[in-house]
Amino acid sequence: MNNKIKSLFLLDKEITYLNHGSFGACPKSIFDSLISFQTQLENQPVQFLDEDSKELMLNSRNSLAKFIDCDPDSLVFFQNPTTAINEIVRSLKLNKGDEILSTDHEYGAMDKTWNFICKKTGAKHIKSTIKLPVGNEQVFLDNFLSGVTKNTKIFFLSHMTSATGLYFPVEKICKFAREHNILIIIDGAHIPGHFPLSINTLQPDIYVGACHKWLLCPKGVSFLYVNKKHQDNIDPLIISWGYDSEDPSDYPEFQEHHYWQGTRDVSPFLTIPDAIKFRKDYNWDMVSNECKKNILKAREAIHNIVGGDPLVEDNVDKWLGQMCSFPINHDNFIDLKSLLINKYKIEIPVVKWKDRILMRISLNGYNSNNDVDKLLIVLRKLV
Ligand SMILES: Cc1ncc(COP(=O)(O)O)c(C=O)c1O
Repeated sequence: MNNKIKSLFLLDKEITYLNHGSFGACPKSIFDSLISFQTQLENQPVQFLDEDSKELMLNSRNSLAKFIDCDPDSLVFFQNPTTAINEIVRSLKLNKGDEILSTDHEYGAMDKTWNFICKKTGAKHIKSTIKLPVGNEQVFLDNFLSGVTKNTKIFFLSHMTSATGLYFPVEKICKFAREHNILIIIDGAHIPGHFPLSINTLQPDIYVGACHKWLLCPKGVSFLYVNKKHQDNIDPLIISWGYDSEDPSDYPEFQEHHYWQGTRDVSPFLTIPDAIKFRKDYNWDMVSNECKKNILKAREAIHNIVGGDPLVEDNVDKWLGQMCSFPINHDNFIDLKSLLINKYKIEIPVVKWKDRILMRISLNGYNSNNDVDKLLIVLRKLV
């Protein structure tokens, strides 16, 4: 049992928590940092919101920009990636017949957002099939690019997928987009704190990510990066005092448009420097690498029990991180999920993806070999 690390977290000790991927989990010390900011806010709301939080927000934004290697002025906070993508989608000037090319592995809320805008504008949401099992990068690339037509205006794809838990090598797709004047938007909800990220190297047009998953922030910390050349075309989702400001700051308009959104609690955003410090203090890169190795072992043991076709065939370590999805042969995935949590106290997602039922295991520092063993025992009983 990895009690030492588990005791750093607020997680219920009775639950075998194998679902870091959905909403993350926040260590006590980072949660304390949130409470400390909220306490400062409530001690003197005007002083905190009008004055003190400005410097703190800047510090947080700059720390994150350094961590994901991007221009700080191109980075703004959002509560979650879906909200950020909603802003983008509502800003785009799409015409009838324009095509958005994505994949059949995208997160449901993002699919719905694209469907919504396509219904309004007459644009088309095209999904390339990324064939399973994945393994060869060129095959992945060919699968994706097979959907390109002369009408393709936008690429939208996950850097790591939700239901299938796959790390997509998006570098060459970003390059293709640049060379063919296609706007590329990456959904990196699972990337910060899970994989090294350099936005300056990747050069997407737009990138969204969550910090409350693998960067261990409390809930409600996400970001939107927009390359400078597109910022004038992005309308803020919330129009507030920063729009046509009577008292403009020295910051670029993109920052001005996003900073002030009325009476909102900015405390979660302010925890980013503490979350980055936590990683250093506890050598979290090493912890994360250990979890990635353990995922490979768990994957093998799970497949020995459940059989089924694996989602990855070759170069397995390149396509997986601290999560792995596997098919489950079961009639009712909702019953199965309830059984796992209610009877066995195992928190693990079971979802329907296309015609398959997939279970996805996540491992983080607080998980132990016992947690995986417990799942294996239950799977032996159920499958
Ligand atoms: C691939 C992917 N994109 C985006 C999200 C963002 O989720 P939300 O905006 O609903 O918090 C998630 C959450 O799990 C995800 O897995």
